[in-house]
Amino acid sequence: MSSDPKKIETVLTENRIFKPDEEFQKKAHISSMRDYQELYKKSIEDNLGFWETAANELHWFRKWDSVLNEESAPVYKWFVNAKTNISYNCLDRHLNSATKNKAALIWEGELGGQRTLTYNQLFHEVNRFANALKKLGIQRGDRVAVYLPMIPELAISLLACARIGAVHSVIFAGFSSESIRDRVLDCEAKLIITSDGGWRKGNVLPLKNIVDEAVAGCACVKHVIVVKRGQGDPFPCHIKEGRDHWYHRIIDDVSSRCEPEQMDSEDMLFLLYTSGTTGKPKGIIHTTGGYMVYTYLTTKYVFDLKPEDVYWCTADIGWITGHSYIVYGPLMNGATILMYEGAPNWPDKGRLWKMIQDHSVTIFYTAPTAIRAFMKWGDKWPNKYDLSSLRLLGTVGEPINPEAWIWYHRIIGKDKCPIVDTWWQTETGGIMITPLPGCTPLKPGSATLPFFGIEAEVISDDGSQADAGILAITKPWPGMLRGIYGDMQRYKQTYWSKWPNKYFPGDGAKKDSDGYFWILGRIDDVVNVAGHRIGTAELESVFVEHHMVAESAVIGIEHELKGQCLVGFISLKEGIDTTDDLAQELKEWIGKKIGRFAMPEKIIFSPDLPKTRSGKIMRRLLRDVASGRTLGNISTLADASVVERLKVKYEED
Ligand code: WT7
Repeated sequence: MSSDPKKIETVLTENRIFKPDEEFQKKAHISSMRDYQELYKKSIEDNLGFWETAANELHWFRKWDSVLNEESAPVYKWFVNAKTNISYNCLDRHLNSATKNKAALIWEGELGGQRTLTYNQLFHEVNRFANALKKLGIQRGDRVAVYLPMIPELAISLLACARIGAVHSVIFAGFSSESIRDRVLDCEAKLIITSDGGWRKGNVLPLKNIVDEAVAGCACVKHVIVVKRGQGDPFPCHIKEGRDHWYHRIIDDVSSRCEPEQMDSEDMLFLLYTSGTTGKPKGIIHTTGGYMVYTYLTTKYVFDLKPEDVYWCTADIGWITGHSYIVYGPLMNGATILMYEGAPNWPDKGRLWKMIQDHSVTIFYTAPTAIRAFMKWGDKWPNKYDLSSLRLLGTVGEPINPEAWIWYHRIIGKDKCPIVDTWWQTETGGIMITPLPGCTPLKPGSATLPFFGIEAEVISDDGSQADAGILAITKPWPGMLRGIYGDMQRYKQTYWSKWPNKYFPGDGAKKDSDGYFWILGRIDDVVNVAGHRIGTAELESVFVEHHMVAESAVIGIEHELKGQCLVGFISLKEGIDTTDDLAQELKEWIGKKIGRFAMPEKIIFSPDLPKTRSGKIMRRLLRDVASGRTLGNISTLADASVVERLKVKYEED
């Protein structure tokens, strides 16, 4: 191992390789590595020609003067001066084909109620709601905040905004009134769409009451639209005369035809606030044309969609995954989408598997944090159901530990479904590094290779090539963010100041001899032990390889002698007791698997780890706990009590 203090080292070697199943391969859009390599090469050599061909698969009211304009880089312009509307491409475009009467959305409520909307029905709903928004004075360019549970009206809201050129800003329906207020004020939203409530683990979340609290301090908000989720009577909430409107009333007396606005390619489509695991939320800006082409094409190839597929992405539409891969990408591709309102463990831990069986789901896309929870709950839940309809699995959000990958492949995919481990970010708009399921040989834990048109590198701080270091994207791509709302300086500083003309995503990565990318976690989380810089993902994966460990988080804290030492926070599988012997065994496990230098100083058992609402482990807070500091910003935490309990426990130890 080198002693270069800036170099990141890798400690994990994963040699298992999974080739695509022959049946799958035969029917796939891209069915051999030769085809991938050929098209990839073409997509880089004639990058703009490649994107132009993709764009030509969609509808434009007017085509572009040029594909890319780099004059104001890093604010790149794609499909310059073209006019289109993404809701047209999601809906109207399908009305002249057999897709018209196909299910667009199959929705299941937590309590079990179901609704199905065909493309034609969804088209009419969206048109009516678009007219209702207009009636309340919403115009092209106005910002509309959306705070809804996972019900069809959430997808309808996005499409209706897009149709009239209003900018949607979805706020995940688990955020507090304070978080709503910050986001609404930042973009000066004129209207908020919410509901009287939503179901979560058998309880009703009082969304409208939370919005009322938030709006009290927001003079910009003129109207609130309330979807009635309560069956029969609405859930208790207050309707303020003049400001608040029931959704079902307001769409009742409007026309079901609303001409789509002809949007410029670079008109803003939406804002989505991301805080990641650190700092003040940033309003990430995505525009119309480039985002549309990028999500369309990535969905088509990564999920290898076929007309008969039933596609299920378990993310919430409150996150980018839901925007790009529940709503826009799949609808542009004419797919049938399954959407679920509630919790995965309600009424029991078999809910998702039952839904796969009941709806004959063929494609299932979820997150490592969920997969680790499923593993922890035990094989008996998925084993109770018939999962044979599945043909493709996906994962996104964090590095997936190889053990979790293997479990997912075996227990859910029955050894026959490829797994697409898709690396991307809110900022990238769509999937960037990913296997293509019909051709890419898979290595558990690797996001494998760049998507068409994407050029990625692993480089060191000074910009030179490295095997392990920092991930960089070296070419602009259509789905890229166009800025941070109201703070272009921060945009340039955060993403474009590390190296000239290269996008800095903030992740550590390594590249192996096959050119495969392995994401090592956020650069801010890299630990430094005895002079070795190691990404947390690898250390955590080694813990998860231990048969008693369900999930782990590793951090480095100051140590008098070593500079830094490691602390492992461990969550055990169900039914396993925490003992001092086990703590010692786990320390030695790391010592044996990686080297004595990496042996953790301390093991802390905890049934839960502190996570963001989107399921990412907040190592920053664990560092605060372990070094006895007061906790930093906890506003993005899903459950604040987890870290409070840990703090008490740590201090007792
Ligand atoms: C960060 C972006 C992209 C939609 C959901 C998250 C991590 C994401 C992977 C993956 C390893 C991953 C990265 C990235 N990440 N996917 N397949 N392997 N890490 O969006 O909240 O903007 O987070 O999530 O650290 O930078 P986000």
